[in-house]
Parts: sequence; structure tokens; C-alpha cells
Amino acid sequence: MTLGYRSARTDSFSLACDGLSFDVAEGEFVAIVGPSGCGKTSFLSAVAGLLPVTSGRLELNGEQILGPSPDRSLVFQQASLFPWRTVEANIAFGLKAQQRLDKKGKDRVAGLVELVGLSGKEGKYPRELSGGMGQRVNLARALATDPDLLLLDEPFSALDAQTREVMQEELTRIWQADRTGKGKTAVFVTHDVPEAVFLADRVVVFSDGPARLLEVVEVDLARPRDAAVKRSAEFQAISDYILRLVMSRSQPGRRASDHDSHTTVAG
Ligand SMILES: Nc1ncnc2c1ncn2[C@@H]1O[C@H](COP(=O)(O)OP(=O)(O)OP(=O)(O)O)[C@@H](O)[C@H]1O
Ligand SMILES: [Mg+2]
Repeated sequence: MTLGYRSARTDSFSLACDGLSFDVAEGEFVAIVGPSGCGKTSFLSAVAGLLPVTSGRLELNGEQILGPSPDRSLVFQQASLFPWRTVEANIAFGLKAQQRLDKKGKDRVAGLVELVGLSGKEGKYPRELSGGMGQRVNLARALATDPDLLLLDEPFSALDAQTREVMQEELTRIWQADRTGKGKTAVFVTHDVPEAVFLADRVVVFSDGPARLLEVVEVDLARPRDAAVKRSAEFQAISDYILRLVMSRSQPGRRASDHDSHTTVAG
């Protein structure tokens, strides 16, 4: 699929994603890496249904994505919490909006508070939280409605290195623990190649903008993973390989035609 932005001022069109075509399987964790400004956020926004594609199509479970829907949750780079709502109310927000905050919904909120390690902080307001805690709330809020697809746009990039490491481990734990029957599918955008390798089953490498598909790299590291895996030779080899790909800025060998390309998630 292809997408871009039209400038009202100059009436010109600039491409952000060019002929991207790949599938994400149900229950899979896919990371997307690529140079700054290449079109990663644009791609994720399109999957979220916030930005229309120019040609081609995006599908979720065989249905074309035409707009936002509760079957997808997006987590942004910066914690985007309601400052006037408590931790608990922030997490419950989506369920409440969907009129699902019954006994079961409330239990789910309580379970998520525990899952993301915020027990005892339910009544706090966002301003009383650290950056890492804020992102935990963000994550719990995205999970609360039990979406088929979790979309994460550099959710840890504003955190310090240490907190970031902790959050990466937490996310793999949460992603595994929250697989309630049907698999939880995740697409995670990051600049950070080791982060992508640590988290993902496959890493999708985008080229310079407009983003084209350079390669999809399998990450064959056993799960569950903890931080120690980052010191393994296998981990280093995969990370080095992807890093070289990202730095190479090469053109892909073959480009899918704009019109027949489509991207399927959790199909
Ligand atoms: N709302 C917009 N209107 C016009 N152009 C935009 C808009 N948003 C993004 N772009 C352009 O689209 C291209 C891709 O931007 P995008 O934000 O998707 O990149 P990115 O890969 O997420 O970058 P980063 O890694 O820095 O977050 C850039 O050239 C950017 O200037
Ligand atoms: Mg971005």
C-alpha cells in the first residue's frame, strides 16, 4: 500500500510510504525499524485508521481498514493520559466509552493495574507519576478493551535507558500474560534496533523516506526472553545485520506495484 500527504498550500503530494506489502500473523509480535522521518508513524496511523491509504489496501482479519475501531489500540510516544483522571479512570476510559465498565470490566481494570505493576497507585493522577509509570498506564489503557491489534509508536523513547530496559521486559511479560485465548498481535515501531530484536518475532526494516520494504528479518530467539539474551552471540548477530541494513539506505531489489500491494494484519 501507498500513502502520503497533500499540501493544501502548494497543492503538491508527498509520499510517506511507497508500495509497502507484508503480513502480520495473529498472535505475532512484529517490530518496524527505519530511519527517522521515513514514514513509520504514518504507516501506524494508517493501520489505526487515522490516515487513509492512497492506493492498495490494509486489512485486519480479512476486512479492509477504513477508519478507527476498538479492535485496534494505539500507544503513542508520549504518555497521552487524561490529566484530570486517576490511573484507574485512565485505564478504564475505553471500557467506559464502550459501556463495558460492568463488574467484569472493573475486574479487568484491576487485573491490568496489577499486570503493569501499578498496584497501590490506582488513585494517583498522571502528574504524580514518573515517565515509566505513565507509559505503564498508557499500555494498560490500550490493553483494557482487549483489542485484536496493539499498535505501539516508540512508546519507550522518552524514557531513560534503564527504565527503558525494564519496560521492554515488562512489555514481553504483559504481551504474553494478556494472551487471553486468542493471540495478542502487536506492531511496535522503534528507532532502536536492539529493542526491536529483543521484543519481536520478526523485524520489518523500512528504507529512507518514503518508506519501502527493505527486508523482513526473523528473530529466532527462544521465549520467554529476559535482558540476558541481549548478551548472546545470536542476538548480537541479528542486531548487527539489521543495523547494517538500516544504515545501508539501499533501494529494495523489487518493488511491489502500488496498486496490487496490500498489507494484512492478524490475517
Ligand atoms: N501531517 C503531516 N502532513 C504532512 N506531512 C507529514 C505529516 N506527518 C508526517 N509527514 C511527513 O511524512 C514523512 C514521514 O513522517 P513520519 O512521522 O511517518 O516518520 P517517522 O518514520 O515516524 O519518523 P520518526 O522516526 O522521526 O518518528 C515525513 O517526511 C514527514 O515530514
Ligand atoms: Mg514517528
